Amino acid sequence: MFITFEGIEGTGKSTQIALLQQHLESQGHKVRVTLEPGGSRIGAELRRVLLSLENRDLTPQAELFLYLADRAQHVAQVVRPAIAAGAVVLSDRFADSTVAYQGYGRGMDPELLHRLNAVAVDGLWPDLTLLLDLDPVIGLERAMSRNSREGKTNAEGRFEAESIAFHTRVRQGFLDLAARSPERISIVDATGAPEDIALRVRALVEAKLHA
Ligand code: TYD
Repeated sequence: MFITFEGIEGTGKSTQIALLQQHLESQGHKVRVTLEPGGSRIGAELRRVLLSLENRDLTPQAELFLYLADRAQHVAQVVRPAIAAGAVVLSDRFADSTVAYQGYGRGMDPELLHRLNAVAVDGLWPDLTLLLDLDPVIGLERAMSRNSREGKTNAEGRFEAESIAFHTRVRQGFLDLAARSPERISIVDATGAPEDIALRVRALVEAKLHA
C-alpha cells in the first residue's frame, strides 16, 4: 500500500504522517515513512541543491528535472522495495507536487508534466493521496515560524520565499488534481487541531486498507 501526502507548505503533513505511522504500527502494520525531495541517498543530495537559497539561479526547467530525477531514484530504491517487503509506505509529497508547483506555480503544461511523471514513477502510482488543504496565508505563517524555530531560514526555504499568489495557484493545482482523480485523491481540511485532522486521515486510510 502506497499513500502520499500533498499540500502547500505549512499544512501539517509531517505531523499527520507521524500520527498515522503511530496508529498503523499500533495496528500491527509495518510502516515506511519517506519524503520527496530527498527520500533516497542520491535524492538527499538533490534536495540540498533544490532547496538551497544559494541556488536562486536554478532555471525552472533544471528544477523540474531534478525533482523528476529525485522521484525516479526514490521509486526504484525506496518505495518499490518497501512495498515489496510488505510495508505501508507513507510519502511526504510525490508526483502531484510537480504538477501543482512546476505546473500551476511555475506555469508549465500540466499534461506534459503528467507524462514526465509517468516516466519517473514507472507505473507506481499511489493507492491513496491525502491532500491537506489550507489557505496559503495560514500555511505560510506556519511554515515561516517553523523555519525560524528550526533555524532553517537560510538553508531551506526557496519556496517559502515565493509570494502568496504563487501558493494560491499551487493550492488550486492540487484542488484541480483532486477533482480529476477523486478515486485516488481525498481532500482533507487542514484547519483545526492536529488530533481532529488525524481522525479524518485515519478514516480515509482505513477505508482504503479494507477496500
Ligand atoms: P519541504 O521542505 O519538504 O517542504 P514541505 O515541508 O512543505 O513539504 O520542501 C519541498 C519543497 O519542494 C516544497 O516547497 C515543494 C517543492 N516541490 C516541488 O516544487 N516540486 C516537486 O515535485 C516536489 C516533490 C516538491
